[in-house]
Amino acid sequence: RPPLRIAVAGLGTVGAGVIRLLEENRDLITRRAGRPIEVVAVSARDRNKDRGIDLSPYRWEDDMDDLAALADVDAVVEVIGGSDGPALTLARNTLKRGKPFVTANKAMIAHHGMELATIADSSDIPLKFEAAVAGGIPVIKALREGASANRITRVYGILNGTCNFILTKMEAEGRDFADVLTEAQAKGYAEADPSFDVDGVDAGHKLSILAAMCFGSRLDFGNVTTRGIRAITAADIREAETLGYRVRLIGMAEQGEDGLYQCVQPCLVPAEHPLGYVPGSLNAVVAEGNFVGRLFFEGAGAGDGPTASAVVADLIDVARNEYGPAFAMAVETLEALPVADSGGR
Ligand code: NAP
Ligand code: HSE
Repeated sequence: RPPLRIAVAGLGTVGAGVIRLLEENRDLITRRAGRPIEVVAVSARDRNKDRGIDLSPYRWEDDMDDLAALADVDAVVEVIGGSDGPALTLARNTLKRGKPFVTANKAMIAHHGMELATIADSSDIPLKFEAAVAGGIPVIKALREGASANRITRVYGILNGTCNFILTKMEAEGRDFADVLTEAQAKGYAEADPSFDVDGVDAGHKLSILAAMCFGSRLDFGNVTTRGIRAITAADIREAETLGYRVRLIGMAEQGEDGLYQCVQPCLVPAEHPLGYVPGSLNAVVAEGNFVGRLFFEGAGAGDGPTASAVVADLIDVARNEYGPAFAMAVETLEALPVADSGGR
């Protein structure tokens, strides 16, 4: 079969990881995809930046707004970031041209996912965002396919690698919040604006996507309550430890009698609970289904390799022509759930 020819917009932590993975695992990916996946065009802000990868085989495009207009581009990968701006322009243009769109951008999906899914589904075009939730853990695929026969009532977990890295390092090494945040940024875990991480907004974006996928509901990021970890001190963490708890940033969404509850906040997790054992930048997602019971997923939630792994898995699905509606059900069938009172939880 002819190759799937892609353009990659954004060549930072994730974009460079995608190029490296496609290069290093080329033969295996070709066999699994049933055809080669070839990067034909790349774009970012600064053409001259050293990115630690050889970009000479690929054509540089200065204008990234409409990469899908290029005749030799079959699909677009967006790893720029930002809920609006160039990422959103590129998403709209790509889908309107009827070409597949793969993204790691949870902010954009949380804010504009319904609009983009409507464009994609109405023309049966793949809109894929596995990397947007929990980095390398294939949790979107597992929930939309593996657990699709279940009524899922609750989904929760550790959804931000930067915060888990900070909290676990503060706990184990007694280090300062600011010092560990700098290390998380250097490792490529944090968002371009790390306040999205530490204020719980990034976890909120992911939670809203997970909730929509699990409950068959419309995305509702506007009603996610978020509290971050800025105010957590080393003394709080020590105090929690003496009481047999660990401090973790937990996102939880629940579909109850009174509607949809979505909240991200620092929680005291019993030291023996599996979420208390999730180290460093790893993430964990727990989903409770009425037939399958409790599912627990753990793995790398951030970083170049794990995130690239999820992006390229989506590309392999596109290459095989294996995909469905962006949110597992047609957008018009997703329910608009009332917002539950979160008091007392
Ligand atoms: P990053 O390292 O900051 O890279 C962003 C890339 O986009 C850079 O190459 C940058 O160009 C380019 N870019 C930014 N603004 C642009 C603009 N206005 N016009 C043109 N190009 C622009 O970010 P990242 O960590 O790779 O994250 C990319 C996306 O993946 C984000 O949506 C993020 O939330 C998501 N994500 C990241 C991770 C992770 O662990 N890092 C995990 C999951 C999902 P220059 O390099 O030329 O400046
Ligand atoms: N900044 C995000 C995190 C990247 O730390 O979890 C992965 O989505």
